[in-house]
Amino acid sequence: MKKILFYLIGAVLLVFSGCAGSGNGYRIVDNTIVFDVPERAEGQKSVLGLRTEPLDTVRVGFIGLGMRGPGAVKRFTYLDGVEIKALCDLLPDRVATARKILADRGWPEAAEYSGEDGWKALCERNDIDLVYICTGWQKHVEMAVYAMRHGKHVAIEVPAATSVKECWELVDVAEQTQRHCMMLENCVYDFFEMTVLNMAQQGLFGEILHVEGGYIHNLDEFWDRYQGNWRLAFNQEHKGDVYATHGLGPACQVLDIHRGDRMTRLVSMETVSVNGAATAKKLMDAGTFANGDHTVTMIQTARGRSILLQHNVYTPRPYSREYQVTGTKGFANKYPSEGFAFSDTDPEKFGLADHEDLSGHSFVSEETRKMLMEKYRHPITAEIEAKAREVGGHGGMDFIMDYRLVYCLRNGLPLDQDVYDAAEWSCIGDLSAASIENGNMPVEFPDFTRGDWNKTDGYRHAVAPVR
Ligand SMILES: NC(=O)c1ccc[n+]([C@@H]2O[C@H](COP(=O)([O-])OP(=O)(O)OC[C@H]3O[C@@H](n4cnc5c(N)ncnc54)[C@H](O)[C@@H]3O)[C@@H](O)[C@H]2O)c1
Repeated sequence: MKKILFYLIGAVLLVFSGCAGSGNGYRIVDNTIVFDVPERAEGQKSVLGLRTEPLDTVRVGFIGLGMRGPGAVKRFTYLDGVEIKALCDLLPDRVATARKILADRGWPEAAEYSGEDGWKALCERNDIDLVYICTGWQKHVEMAVYAMRHGKHVAIEVPAATSVKECWELVDVAEQTQRHCMMLENCVYDFFEMTVLNMAQQGLFGEILHVEGGYIHNLDEFWDRYQGNWRLAFNQEHKGDVYATHGLGPACQVLDIHRGDRMTRLVSMETVSVNGAATAKKLMDAGTFANGDHTVTMIQTARGRSILLQHNVYTPRPYSREYQVTGTKGFANKYPSEGFAFSDTDPEKFGLADHEDLSGHSFVSEETRKMLMEKYRHPITAEIEAKAREVGGHGGMDFIMDYRLVYCLRNGLPLDQDVYDAAEWSCIGDLSAASIENGNMPVEFPDFTRGDWNKTDGYRHAVAPVR
């Protein structure tokens, strides 16, 4: 009898608290999915605008030397004020490939680690300042947390985390250890995105109302190249926009997310999985596939602005990150061809030829577009563009990212991307999956800053005072 009563009370509580999905860390309140926001623990403090002791030399260890990692090792050999102390991969032959990169570039040998747990010994070294993680998604948080707990700053490939719970883990450990935790979102450093950010900050688009972004990249030729099949295996099990950061990063910077605005809710929809399912059948003999071929997510911000995100890594389409910025006075578009449209004609801002018609109905001429790209080249891009293009890495943006990371660490400045960016941009996978799994229900964003999202006045790259 007691047992029946116990179950009855349990069932009633479940109905009244609307606990569907609570195993995933969320509740349903008034037809909205709400993820729990854990209390900030005693002694733990915000890392908003975190500055740490300037490092004369940034001593780095790399973990994960597959398709992505070796390029990072090579890029670092072109940076000043850097020592490469250690290299690590599960597989020893991949460490050997990175060793050759150092040798070919005339750099000293680094310590080497391999095997499932070799990375722990790397993190435990006392001659490393920064651990740079380029493994599959499933290992990012475990490694970053361990590294921060051993006093290291961390840089983590995208997405930094695979769930809201993991996002909180990064935030909490960064706040407890007061270490930098930066996600390596490289697309915010691409030349067009940097120029548009600069133009937006100088008011050329008026008030920014809506931004679009996405990741449209058919991965057919890559699926069987991810070590241990980590990527297809993840997508096979997860719905949602699991790779949102390339599209979302530039949108969040231009919208000053957690620097005056914040993402408050999203709704996601997906198509049926046709190509993804067929790939998983072929490569994994899987009978099911969770991730829809095309996923669309709409996001609302506290200041009444919106973001549209798309994810499709399965169907034949030209590569696109969809980047579009809509403002009250202008518009920028990146794919398939870069263009601007404006209604404003302030000659101070535009310096246009007399004949230029800025009605906003059509793109400015090619001549004007080029002139604007020059005139509004971001100061950081101007500083390093030539070298970035020479070193490369997605045309140069990867090098600008590494350059900025090292510059900020060496000058004791806040990094361009903090742990709250990492969490906000990475949580989309989990939030969009929750929306889709509950019939496209709205999902409230957790505030990873725990109330501090309005304390910084706009997004800015930190710059060291001229000495
Ligand atoms: N920013 C970008 O433009 C971009 C581009 C490609 C990949 N990525 C990201 O980079 C990361 C790696 O992707 P990839 O394409 O190189 O995958 P990959 O499978 O080629 O490489 C992952 C590497 O991690 C290693 N690894 C796995 N377990 C390990 C362990 N326990 N210890 C040490 N090493 C371990 C694997 O052996 C492999 O070499 C992912 O997060 C991915 O999303 C980002």
